[in-house]
Amino acid sequence: MPPPSVPDFNLIAPVYDALAQLVYGKAQKEAQAHFLSLIPTGARVLVLGGGSGWVLPELLRKSAPAYVLYLEPSTNMLQKARNRFAQTSAQAEVEFRLGTEASLLPQETFHVVLTPFVLDLFTPEEALDMMQRLSLALLPNGLWLHTDFHTSSAPPFWQKLLLWGMYRFFGLVSHISAERLPPFEALFQKIGLKTQQEAFFFKNFIRAQVLQKPVMPPARTK
Ligand SMILES: C[S@@+](CC[C@H](N)C(=O)[O-])C[C@H]1O[C@@H](n2cnc3c(N)ncnc32)[C@H](O)[C@@H]1O
Repeated sequence: MPPPSVPDFNLIAPVYDALAQLVYGKAQKEAQAHFLSLIPTGARVLVLGGGSGWVLPELLRKSAPAYVLYLEPSTNMLQKARNRFAQTSAQAEVEFRLGTEASLLPQETFHVVLTPFVLDLFTPEEALDMMQRLSLALLPNGLWLHTDFHTSSAPPFWQKLLLWGMYRFFGLVSHISAERLPPFEALFQKIGLKTQQEAFFFKNFIRAQVLQKPVMPPARTK
């Protein structure tokens, strides 16, 4: 399969946080911050698609990792994250890298991977591809903190409307390939990760999950 197309968040970068707050209030941030204190001291952490970087000071306030790789394909988002980090007095080593999961080096491994509102930008096939790549980089017993939108099998009208609006909007502005939420449950199951904890926000429309990579690799599924 060809690598997923990279969405372009440069145009929206100056107003992304304000827009997200306008629609979801504090819910998106609260959800992303909810499980940060589970990051083990001294951990190597990968933040994929962290956007403007507000999550970094929060992460470093709630945990004490040794190294954080902040991997972001938008130059404008990455610059914002750099600027924000420059104003903190954190102990951890933080590397800002322009790129996607495809920019991970084969030997790079992490104790914790964060995917905050990033996998929803991709089709199920693309998301699975990315998740397999991320799973390779996650160490056995490693934690995956995944935060994203979530719907039940019969979502209320307002959730359908918000999803429809977001996919149209980001399709136009950021050229994302997806048109609906990937089936996260099934995709995590495919790569052999189980949910350990979860918490819901914004009337269950946002879910924060903690998944853990087993020590033994899962049996192969087609
Ligand atoms: C919807 S925004 C969410 C930003 C941030 N996580 C937040 O919740 O405020 C998605 C972010 O993922 C980044 N992104 C898109 N594709 C990516 C990829 N393949 N790998 C890493 N980041 C990606 C975008 O540049 C953008 O900053």
